[in-house]
Amino acid sequence: MSKRTMIHEGKAKIIYEGPDPGTLIQYFKDDATAFNAQKKDTIAGKGVLNNRISAHIMTKLEGIGIPTHFLKSLNMREQLVRAVEIIPIEVVVRNIAAGSICKRLGLEEGTYLPQPLVEYYYKDDKLGDPMISEHHIVTFGWADIYELEEIVSMSYRINDFLNGMFAGIGLKLVDFKLEFGRLYGDYGELYIMLADEISPDNCRLWDAETNEKMDKDRFRQDLGGLVEAYQQVAERLGLIPKGGIIQGGNINEQLAAGLGEIENELARERRLRSINKPKPQKPTKV
Ligand SMILES: Nc1ncnc2c1ncn2[C@@H]1O[C@H](COP(=O)(O)OP(=O)(O)OP(=O)(O)O)[C@@H](O)[C@H]1O
Ligand SMILES: [Mg+2]
Repeated sequence: MSKRTMIHEGKAKIIYEGPDPGTLIQYFKDDATAFNAQKKDTIAGKGVLNNRISAHIMTKLEGIGIPTHFLKSLNMREQLVRAVEIIPIEVVVRNIAAGSICKRLGLEEGTYLPQPLVEYYYKDDKLGDPMISEHHIVTFGWADIYELEEIVSMSYRINDFLNGMFAGIGLKLVDFKLEFGRLYGDYGELYIMLADEISPDNCRLWDAETNEKMDKDRFRQDLGGLVEAYQQVAERLGLIPKGGIIQGGNINEQLAAGLGEIENELARERRLRSINKPKPQKPTKV
C-alpha cells in the first residue's frame, strides 16, 4: 500500500488524506479508551466491527435523508469519507438514564426519560469534554443558531430511526453521541452533515429482554466480553455471518477480509440542502 499522509491520530481512529480532494480515510483501530483515556486497552477485532456497523448505519441514515460523510468502505478497517470542518460539539441523545446523567441528576440507571433528551458537550479532551448549553455554543461561535437548529432536528430524526432499527433486532437504544461537520459547496453555500462514527463505542445498547449491556460500558465497567457483544450487534444487523468473525479472542482475517463492501450510493447523487438563510429583513412600512 502506498504511503499516506496521516492527518490526525485519535483514540479510536486514524484519519489519513483521501485519494481525491475533499476526501479522507478513516482507519478504525482496535484501541479502547474510557474516562478520557485514563483507561486503555487493545481489543482484537473491535475496529473491524465498528467500521462495518458505522458504515451500515450511516448508509441507512442517508436513506432517510440525513446527509452523512460516509462514502464507502475500502477494506475491513478503512472507510472513505468526505472531509468536513468538524463542529467542536458532541451531541448526546438520551432515551434512558445511564452514565453521567445518573451521577449528575441522581437518577437511577435504566429510568426511562419522559422524552428524548439532547445534551451538548464541548469537544476538548484537556477540559474533559465539559457539558455546555446552546447559549455557550452560540456565544463562543462554535455554531450559529441556524446550524444548531439543523443539528438538533437531525439528531431527533436519527434517534427515531435508530430506536426503530435497534428495536427490530432486540436492542434498546439507551443513548448515543453524534458529531457533525460543515461542508462548503462550490458557491460557498453551507451544508451540515453527520460525521465521525456510530457504533457500540458511542451508543449504549441493552438487550431488550435481559438488559445485558452490548456496548463500551462492558469495557468501562470491566464486564469483559466487549468484542463478543459488538459482534452480537453486527450479527443481529446481518453484517457478519452467524458465528462471527472473532473466534476465541482472535480475528479470523480471512472471514473479515471477505465481508464485502458497503457503499453509500445515495451520497453521490444526493442533492444537499443548504442551510444558508436569507438575512432577516426589517418590516417595511406601508
Ligand atoms: N468527515 C470528517 N472530516 C474531518 N474530521 C473528521 C471526520 N469525521 C471524524 N473526524 C474527526 O476525526 C477524529 C476521529 O478520531 P477519534 O474518534 O479516534 O478521535 P478522538 O480521540 O475521539 O478525539 P476527538 O476528541 O477529537 O473525537 C475526531 O477528531 C473526529 O472529530
Ligand atoms: Mg472520537
